[in-house]
Amino acid sequence: MKEKIILTDYANLITDALPRGILLNTNGDKFNSMVIGWGHIGTLWGRPTFNVYVRQGRYTKPQLDKTGEFSISVPLGKTDPLINRVCGAQSGYNINKAEAAGLILEDAECISTPGIRQYPLTLECRVLYAQDQDLSRIPADIRERSYPQNVPGTNPMSNCDYHTMYVGEIVNAYIIRP
Ligand SMILES: Cc1cc2nc3c(=O)[nH]c(=O)nc-3n(C[C@H](O)[C@H](O)[C@H](O)COP(=O)(O)O)c2cc1C
Repeated sequence: MKEKIILTDYANLITDALPRGILLNTNGDKFNSMVIGWGHIGTLWGRPTFNVYVRQGRYTKPQLDKTGEFSISVPLGKTDPLINRVCGAQSGYNINKAEAAGLILEDAECISTPGIRQYPLTLECRVLYAQDQDLSRIPADIRERSYPQNVPGTNPMSNCDYHTMYVGEIVNAYIIRP
């Protein structure tokens, strides 16, 4: 069962959860889920939006470009250590994360990317806009820390790759209830 929510009632909860890791799900060649710590909920062009930032080497990147949609899954309570380890340190290029992390998928209503029962607060998003970062415009201290040019893009954490920002229009929002 999906319990519809008013986004503004949950904006603080989502913002608080981000640094511990929430999930960005895509469903291109297969379902895949990656942990994100950066993102924001807000309004753009008069529409409710969720922005995500994805490095070039992530399996998630071509999936997003192919499908133009994603879902966001936020835990209500603690994060699951297995889910965070698998989805935040392994790549969909190498494994099936839904199997490895035991994700229980829940079909979405408006898009083709499922949500996840274990992380029940769900946003269904369609990509409205995407823009590559220009590393030369990022403050030097942040660039050195977040984009070390001697670390290859296959590294699951900070590496040489810039991010692409995807602005997703939130087209549906709910909590998956048992
Ligand atoms: C707490 C945490 C936050 C993260 N935030 C991001 C992020 O915002 N953007 C990003 O590109 N990678 C981020 N990562 C790294 C990806 O989750 C990780 O590289 C993942 O393996 C990519 O999966 P994929 O290759 O299947 O897309 C984060 C990892 C953790 C543990």
